[in-house]
Amino acid sequence: MSVKILNSFNVQDQGKAKEQFALDVLKGLSTKPKEIPSKYFYDDEGSRLFSQIMESEDYYLTDCEIEVFEKNKKDIAQKIGHSNINIIELGAGDGRKTKILIDQFLKENLSFKYTSIDISKEAIVQIDRLFKEEFPALEHTGVVGEYTGGLDWVSDNQSGRKLVLFLGSTIGNFDRPNALVFLRVLWKHLNNDDLLLIGFDLKKEIDLMLLAYNDREGITKKFNFNLLTRMNNELGANFDLKNFMHFGTYNPNVGAMESFIISTCAQEVYVGELEKTFKFKAFEPIHLEYSHKYLISDIESFAMETGFEVLNHYFDSNHFYTNSLWRVKKEMPNG
Ligand SMILES: C[S@@+](CC[C@H](N)C(=O)[O-])C[C@H]1O[C@@H](n2cnc3c(N)ncnc32)[C@H](O)[C@@H]1O
Repeated sequence: MSVKILNSFNVQDQGKAKEQFALDVLKGLSTKPKEIPSKYFYDDEGSRLFSQIMESEDYYLTDCEIEVFEKNKKDIAQKIGHSNINIIELGAGDGRKTKILIDQFLKENLSFKYTSIDISKEAIVQIDRLFKEEFPALEHTGVVGEYTGGLDWVSDNQSGRKLVLFLGSTIGNFDRPNALVFLRVLWKHLNNDDLLLIGFDLKKEIDLMLLAYNDREGITKKFNFNLLTRMNNELGANFDLKNFMHFGTYNPNVGAMESFIISTCAQEVYVGELEKTFKFKAFEPIHLEYSHKYLISDIESFAMETGFEVLNHYFDSNHFYTNSLWRVKKEMPNG
């Protein structure tokens, strides 16, 4: 594997990344209600904990996406066709589901290179470890950086047809306006006929969703609390974890699972890097994450509004989840 570490993720520039983290925490803990952007979940420990969440029996999303790929991998490979292709995965995570597709593509003798983009270096290391073992001949470039920076790097360094993978219903972390912006930015980085395979968690029985984000082993709680530990370690904060609780709930108005950490008492938290104390009232929440849930009509309107054509929706047997295959549509000059 070759690894590209984008500017602000370089060791030399880590000061900048820390400064941005501190500024986002300042903004987030100063607004009402308090909030911290979910991208800060994914330090090394956060990525390892997310891998554990995917193994949890209660987190149905992973099993659904695995089933979708196992059932449809041949059809997906067929739709991609045999030209040289760059497969680019955004927010790649540990690669356990991507492995199913890569394996099929190799069996079908498709010719491709694979690039993983992730904000977490640990995720890139995990995926590389897995793919080296499973596919020793695969050409893998890992890009440590944010989505847009990673896509800019791909545009500058890779030509030819592209298939973008955006799995795990990670799109659900964006609210609707930001999802539309994200998809349009992605569209701008792609050419006519390029493909996007994107996972969406569908609306379903609320109890199932509640269990998935409040798993019985408590891994989601650990994953959320890791953000407090991260602020303690990196920003010199003094969050006392025993004074907070995890709360995951479904908001039917927004159509999203929402994750909170709630202060169980009135307290003050000092953040050294900001030289500032933040006051918490008893039972005051910090909002951490949205995981939006969708109808097929929502997905189709996303595609239509951002310049894609839906080629197919692939479902698991319960219709809990879909991976949707989209084609980029661009007006061709003179035709
Ligand atoms: C919900 S996990 C999904 C992982 C994987 N796609 C899967 O389906 O198992 C989200 C992934 O996106 C990465 N991520 C989150 N925010 C990001 C950002 N702004 N830019 C790049 N990667 C990001 C995280 O590190 C994590 O690996």
